[in-house]
Amino acid sequence: MNVSVVGVQWGDEGKGKVVDIYSKDAEVIVRYQGGNNAGHTLVVHGKKTVLHLIPSGVLHPEKICLIGNGVVVDPAVFFEEIDELVEAGILKAKNEDGRLWVSERAHVILPYHCALDQCRETYAGSGKGKIGTTSRGIGPAYEDKVARRGIQVVDLLYPQLLEQKLVRALEEKNTLFQSFFKREPFDVSEMLDYGLKLGERLKPYIKDVRKDLLTAMKQKKPILFEGAQGTLLDVDHGTYPYVTSSTTASGGASPGSGVSPNSFNEIIGITKAYTTRVGTGPFPTEVAGTPDAPAGEQIADLGKEFGATTGRPRRVGWLDLVALKYAVEINGLTGLAFMKVDVMNGLKEVRLCTDYLIKDNKTQDFPSCIDDCESAKPVYETLPGWSDYDASAVHKREDLPQELQDYMKRVEDYVGIPIVLLSTGPGRDETLLFSNPFKVASSKSV
Ligand code: IMP
Repeated sequence: MNVSVVGVQWGDEGKGKVVDIYSKDAEVIVRYQGGNNAGHTLVVHGKKTVLHLIPSGVLHPEKICLIGNGVVVDPAVFFEEIDELVEAGILKAKNEDGRLWVSERAHVILPYHCALDQCRETYAGSGKGKIGTTSRGIGPAYEDKVARRGIQVVDLLYPQLLEQKLVRALEEKNTLFQSFFKREPFDVSEMLDYGLKLGERLKPYIKDVRKDLLTAMKQKKPILFEGAQGTLLDVDHGTYPYVTSSTTASGGASPGSGVSPNSFNEIIGITKAYTTRVGTGPFPTEVAGTPDAPAGEQIADLGKEFGATTGRPRRVGWLDLVALKYAVEINGLTGLAFMKVDVMNGLKEVRLCTDYLIKDNKTQDFPSCIDDCESAKPVYETLPGWSDYDASAVHKREDLPQELQDYMKRVEDYVGIPIVLLSTGPGRDETLLFSNPFKVASSKSV
């Protein structure tokens, strides 16, 4: 049984928590795109852990965690996380327990990628070209990969090859750094030394993880594919150019891990009960500057809406059903995980965006042109809010306040798929699992 989970908004939907919950039933958890631009916050037994690169399933002892070829890996960040997890007794040093593996083919983020990311954002200032990236070098590393001058994890074990590749990569970049960005160049021999040292430390973690996945599938082991970021940040289908540089939609799981496209039984989309976005770019249902701004403030405040990676405050708005339906279609979702409903407790009224008004035309189509997306005016349906309730007394859907049940039903009716998980707080126990994707008698047998 293979289950894939993806964010369906602009990231930060609560994927860490969902992966943590589903990992209980998986034996292997694999990440397949993005890098340490992700920030997955998990609260287990009251203790908060933030992971950026290592799959969130790692908190379950004995589960195997894989970082697929589609991920861009900053080895320095990888070791920072490992050190913390080893200190907490979650992982063994030097991968002695064999629980964590990185694909030989994954591409490496080196300091010059981060520098380029930062130079570009600084150069853009507050102008139109600013993406508001996480400054982690993600875009430049993917650019190098596609331009065929990237450095793969396995290259860190081959000194001669690594040197050749660094010479090639830095020739061009140093010209850019010096002439255009007026910044110090990077020294090839320093980079080589840095890369080889990291390679030496990475050795016990490097593998052809694709083969492990294939073996696990043959043995019918349950596998969880952990998406990062969200569908609206997808490089093809998101609000381009205000997107990240990878395929965040579910389709990315196949090339990003090396399994075939027909490997997935269930695909669960994760959405908050409202919407947030960090960084620049269009956000039709944003409430800042509208009469609903106070509701947004409550949501931002109670939802602790600050980026887990950068600490930036997140922009807040109502749930956008036009965008959600688009994400259901792009990802082929079979169910929704509906997160952070508790943050909206006590609001008198809540709104759902059912249409956009673009150049006076009402539409339910998510626009392709960024200008249309920026000018889209949300058309709202207003529903009564629900009052605060004792979440510990809620064991099934019918125990929820009627208004919340109605809100969920409206969402399901609009997008055409069921809510399979409801999250009413950050902890593992603040979750209602209406159906478990690993236990669904799927119509698709893979
Ligand atoms: P990059 O991925 O650092 O290049 O950033 C590109 C855009 O994606 C920016 O708007 C970031 O704020 C956004 N982004 C990247 N990763 C995440 C994430 O994990 N959560 C939310 N937004 C993200």
